[in-house]
Amino acid sequence: MQGSRPRQFVAVLDFGAQYGQLIARRVRDLHVYSEIVPCGIPAAKLAAMRPSAIILSGGPASVYAKGAPQIDRGVLELGVPVLGFCYGQQIMAVALGGRVGHTERGEYGPARLRRQGSSRILGDTPAEQTVWMSHRDAVSEVPDGFVVTASTDGCPVAAMEDAGRRLFATQFHPEVRHTEHGTRMLRNFLFDVCGLKPNWTMEDVVQGMVDAIRAQVGSDRMILALSGGVDSSVVAALCARAIGKQLTCVFVNHGLLRKGEPEQVEEVFTTQFDIDFVHVHAEGRYARLLSGVVDPEQKRRIIGTQFWEEFFAVAQRTGGVRYLAQGTIYPDIIESGARKTSGQAATIKSHHNLIPFPQGVRFDLIEPLDHLFKDEVRALGEALGLPSHIVHRQPFPGPGLAIRIIGEVTPEKLEILRDADAIVREEIDAYNRRLFDETGVRDSERSVWQYFAVLPDIRSVGVMGDERTYARPVILRAVESSDAMTADWAKLPYELLGKISSRIVAEVPGVNRVAYDITSKPPATIEWE
Ligand code: XMP
Repeated sequence: MQGSRPRQFVAVLDFGAQYGQLIARRVRDLHVYSEIVPCGIPAAKLAAMRPSAIILSGGPASVYAKGAPQIDRGVLELGVPVLGFCYGQQIMAVALGGRVGHTERGEYGPARLRRQGSSRILGDTPAEQTVWMSHRDAVSEVPDGFVVTASTDGCPVAAMEDAGRRLFATQFHPEVRHTEHGTRMLRNFLFDVCGLKPNWTMEDVVQGMVDAIRAQVGSDRMILALSGGVDSSVVAALCARAIGKQLTCVFVNHGLLRKGEPEQVEEVFTTQFDIDFVHVHAEGRYARLLSGVVDPEQKRRIIGTQFWEEFFAVAQRTGGVRYLAQGTIYPDIIESGARKTSGQAATIKSHHNLIPFPQGVRFDLIEPLDHLFKDEVRALGEALGLPSHIVHRQPFPGPGLAIRIIGEVTPEKLEILRDADAIVREEIDAYNRRLFDETGVRDSERSVWQYFAVLPDIRSVGVMGDERTYARPVILRAVESSDAMTADWAKLPYELLGKISSRIVAEVPGVNRVAYDITSKPPATIEWE
């Protein structure tokens, strides 16, 4: 099952855009449900999804280039309003008989837009305004029926429309914040042109999901892959509401968790929830499977596959289990390159929950959050009444510390990393509490996404108490983000960094150095593996 799709739905056709996710986010921020679909989707298939509106994203290609992403012209003839951005404007022009050409210099960054005539998209925005451009090609001849509604110095067709057929396009990017009135343009399209209502609220989402789970599961039994993290806890609350005692929550302890974590998860789910909870001790099995393994993707595959085996073993013991629910979210799918959304996304890393089932294992999967971003999942958790310490927990990857230990995972390295990580979290948590007391601003509001320690597979020379040491460094990673698709390193105060460093070196045997990772995502990722 996928997260159920609401009646009002905006399809974003992805032409490989840098800003593809952003378009979907901006629409959802306006309380209209939106989803990314592959650009080459046949018109009939798209029609069957019953979109209320269609947005064509930008993309890096040149429309006439060999292999450039194409559109089924029928998409533009469904009678559903369409709005194209950048490449989306160019492909719309070409598909309907217009022309695209190379401009002299291209335009990158802010540009001054001048309106001409009336426009339903530019509507009530000023006659001159700043927009965000990023292109070399541009429409040189609009298709029959279209009029030009704005231009810039470098781009004669900066916006065009055929209001009769409800086809609109801009060369610039309204979804990017630097386009001064971009949100107003999106509103004009969604609410004025398409007549949509901003009614996609979390309460609706909860009810829709609960009904869908109930309808699908019927009287069958379900087990839920529970890690204690935000996503699986939200699914637990949803499924508990939908099917109550037909649900068993299974917490697989793979021995790769942080200090004190297994005890905390067990405590929360046995005292604060009225659900069946099973704690599986799989530490030994994981240690054996991971012995000698150094490659990150291989680690991820082994861990993910063993998760399935563990859940299946519980299902066999329980009997009558058909469904497995898990907290897969939208970015997991995008970054795993699995169950491709856009047809363009590359595999960055295989998230543990998207590894295929091994032979002999069989479940029907239920993933109610597979269309939501993390902050939307948190809002859903709040709507479900989950305690704030669960809703605002930092994300922790399913493969756990195994992907924060570079190279082979050993008991010695796990112990070092656990102790160092505990200090990192303790100090930053204390700093956040002090900051909250002083300013009233919480770390989640400062968009601090995650902070943790990483153990690389190298040693370096140091001197401690007049003795030479040849020991391990620990890397500190702290990032700010709103949805983990992009992230920036957190500008933590030097004093705090210094304290963390001295404590780790003094308190964790085997560590003689601490480094701070000051790389954003992209080009790095948040985790090291
Ligand atoms: P990256 O490292 O891809 O991480 O920038 C983005 C976010 O996803 C988390 N992450 C995972 N979560 N299973 C998960 O449940 C995984 O296999 C996995 N890998 C990365 C990571 O902690 C960050 O929040």
